[in-house]
Amino acid sequence: MIAGGQSLTALMNLRLARPDHLIDVTGVSDLHRIADDAQGVRIGAMVTQAEALADVAIGAELPLLWAAMRQIGHTHIRNRGTVGGSIVHADPAAELPVAALALDAEMVVVSAAGRRTIQAADFFDGPFMTSLAPNELLVGLNFKDMGSRRDEDHYVEWGFEELSRRRGDFATAVVATIVWRDIDDQVTDARVVLGGVAGKAVRSSAAEQALIGTSGSDAHPAAAAASRADISPKTDVHATADYRSDMAEVLTLRSLRSANPVAPHPEFTDASHPELVTVAAGTGSTIVNNETRSIEGIDHRRLLADWLREDLRLTGTHLGCEHGVCGACTVLLDGRPVRSCLMFAAQVEGREITTIEALGTPQKLHPLQEAFRSHHGLQCGFCTPGMVLTARDLLSRIPNPTEQQIREELSGNICRCTGYTKIVESVLAAADEGQR
Ligand SMILES: Cc1cc2nc3c(=O)[nH]c(=O)nc-3n(C[C@H](O)[C@H](O)[C@H](O)COP(=O)(O)OP(=O)(O)OC[C@H]3O[C@@H](n4cnc5c(N)ncnc54)[C@H](O)[C@@H]3O)c2cc1C
Ligand code: FES
Ligand code: FES
Repeated sequence: MIAGGQSLTALMNLRLARPDHLIDVTGVSDLHRIADDAQGVRIGAMVTQAEALADVAIGAELPLLWAAMRQIGHTHIRNRGTVGGSIVHADPAAELPVAALALDAEMVVVSAAGRRTIQAADFFDGPFMTSLAPNELLVGLNFKDMGSRRDEDHYVEWGFEELSRRRGDFATAVVATIVWRDIDDQVTDARVVLGGVAGKAVRSSAAEQALIGTSGSDAHPAAAAASRADISPKTDVHATADYRSDMAEVLTLRSLRSANPVAPHPEFTDASHPELVTVAAGTGSTIVNNETRSIEGIDHRRLLADWLREDLRLTGTHLGCEHGVCGACTVLLDGRPVRSCLMFAAQVEGREITTIEALGTPQKLHPLQEAFRSHHGLQCGFCTPGMVLTARDLLSRIPNPTEQQIREELSGNICRCTGYTKIVESVLAAADEGQR
């Protein structure tokens, strides 16, 4: 199965995965819905992370899940990466397995033999391993509303804390906590879940037991220290095992102290994310820079980036890392930035692609290109098409962004020679010009 391809295509590009056949399930509309009813929130496996972030039910009823989703990669990755794909990929440092375990999610799975549900606690087996059988497809995840155990006698507090070396990187350590208290402030139940510090996301029963029956926050340091008992971190190029253990304790303490109420996530209101996209397949063509292009008979293994560069000669789309990290290959898919190195050309049927060639001409630059030129936002220009297209998407959604918003959106695009100050200044200047 291929979902968003944000992990699988990268593995294929690196020749670490060599499937004989791929089945793209992203166009199956039944897998692409979010339902909110008395049972809770049901999320189709093919809902993208960006779509989930735009959903009111997730923002309001599952703020912990929303906070976890917000930490995944960059805008480009979340525009394609799916909720189900991240869960099945089961990266030990990924955010969604941690959130799913903390929220007692239920995985809905189908095969030719029928349908079954698997509790999150029984789903993750180890690094990149789950209890899914090879012939099973994850079709959705069921979550109970976080407030469902809240009444006039009980209330709920939650936290989500992550340490990563750069914005968008996988977590060095990540922690989710939920604490249920009664009217006397006594903890009646708790969840402490950690990621990046074992072969899979783990619940710390030692930390949970240290909290249950206590009042106030005096037990927080002891509970945070107790979380060390349930983890088994490894030393790797990113961090030593000792450092990860220390961070697990620090983040657990911070997460417990943050004690957020179940309410719409404060950042949710920025309304900067897209609606669910309907995939119009069966046309045999795609629109590239306003021109219809046939994809009939295309080699199925042809990456979108290679098709654009080598077949359509749109060489403004650059290739750097070919596994989704650098952003040089950024194009707009239905107006939203994506990595063209992590998609196959065959997957863009019925969609609309915009490359840098559609923006301006040498005689009349696009205002963003002009701002990059006049504010010295480029030197070699290798990263520039990706930067400009990412900035164009940002300004179309948020015409007057703050410097922090620009830095965050551009965090998925790496520049090797200009440095980021001039690039950020260029985008601010283009925004100012647009406002005028
Ligand atoms: C630069 C970069 C940064 C990233 N940063 C993060 C990060 O900080 N945190 C994080 O969590 N992730 C991160 N990711 C990974 C990202 O979240 C992926 O989207 C996710 O891991 C996989 O989701 P996908 O939809 O792309 O799945 P795919 O890559 O398409 O599939 C992943 C695996 O799951 C299987 N699969 C997918 N869907 C199903 C299904 N419904 N049923 C059965 N099997 C299925 C596929 O066969 C494949 O083996 C990053 C990726 C990149 C490229
Ligand atoms: S992200 Fe696609 S080439 Fe680097
Ligand atoms: S301008 Fe050279 S890599 Fe960014």
